[in-house]
Amino acid sequence: MKKIRAKTSNRKYSIYVQRGLSRQAGRLIGRGLAGAQKALLVTNDRIYPLYETMIKQHLSQSAPEFYTHIIQDGEIYKSLDTARQIYDRLLENNFHRNDVIIAFGGGVIGDMAGYAAATYHRGLNLVQYPTTIIGQVDSSIGGKVAVNYQDIKNIIGTFYQPHLILMDPSLLGSLDQKEIVNGLGEVIKYGIVFDQKILEILENITSQKKGIAAIVDHRLFDQILYRCAKIKAVVVAKDEFDTGYRNLLNFGHTIGHALEKVSRLTHISHGRAISLGMLAALDISRQLGFIDGSLKERVLRLYQKIGLPAVIPELDVQAVVAATGFDKKFTAKKNKFVLLKGLNKPCFYFNLKEGIIINSIKENMD
Ligand code: GLY
Repeated sequence: MKKIRAKTSNRKYSIYVQRGLSRQAGRLIGRGLAGAQKALLVTNDRIYPLYETMIKQHLSQSAPEFYTHIIQDGEIYKSLDTARQIYDRLLENNFHRNDVIIAFGGGVIGDMAGYAAATYHRGLNLVQYPTTIIGQVDSSIGGKVAVNYQDIKNIIGTFYQPHLILMDPSLLGSLDQKEIVNGLGEVIKYGIVFDQKILEILENITSQKKGIAAIVDHRLFDQILYRCAKIKAVVVAKDEFDTGYRNLLNFGHTIGHALEKVSRLTHISHGRAISLGMLAALDISRQLGFIDGSLKERVLRLYQKIGLPAVIPELDVQAVVAATGFDKKFTAKKNKFVLLKGLNKPCFYFNLKEGIIINSIKENMD
């Protein structure tokens, strides 16, 4: 079994990565958190029926007392109200600080159950057990936990590192095509920004395999997940509280988030918006003379094989530029972009001229 050690200011924890690991999940949690008398599994009503047998046979061995809390699937349930329902379950079963919450699901479950774990009794044990690509390569690692409030994503939250992360690539087999495609956009980001081997492996898999589900089913995909998770752990160790270096994970997000915001009615999904934002970031890097156009061509070839979009739909470009102003990296006086000086050579760029941003959006429109 592959193991990554994550080091943060107040906690060191293990990330186990292995196809089929779910059969040992209960034992791994029981061994890793030996003091826990009670475990609360938080999951949703889409995932629970898929894994009910595994949960009852294996995961229920996590602690002598095992409870399940099933919430409805969807971003709107990432709320204070759902967190309150989790608190109620913890309270009625008298959970103590040495007991454990197991977040079994995608980003919504991980963030929300993590938030409940961080705040109840000022911190319970937390196991992140992600079932999506984005959960496995990104959101489960690094301690960002939050709920949405008044339609603003992740506005109430904190940093709370998990005590253990379990990753079973075989769980990705239950994802629908759209979720896989969106997750692969995130994987490509790691390949562009940090580790070109990830691009090579993905190119290798997509050249052999037909169909999206076959990509995540491929044994080589486990190596991709492992490499991404390791990178994320290293990034978090360098900048746990996202004050600088960790912003590199934001490649493609400045324009991507703006596209997501402006396209509210037509709706570009998060994964697709970020993929388009990465194309714009590659174009900005080229316009500044940092790179030539070959990396974008390579990325577009992968997008085409995977089914990620290559073209930004017709939108009000000025509105997109204005929406970039909400980027969390910006200050009132300065914008801040993550760009590239070459493959795996990311850099920050401040005070980028508006004309360059506009060109990068227009160049990727029809
Ligand atoms: N998802 C970006 C981060 O964890 O910083």
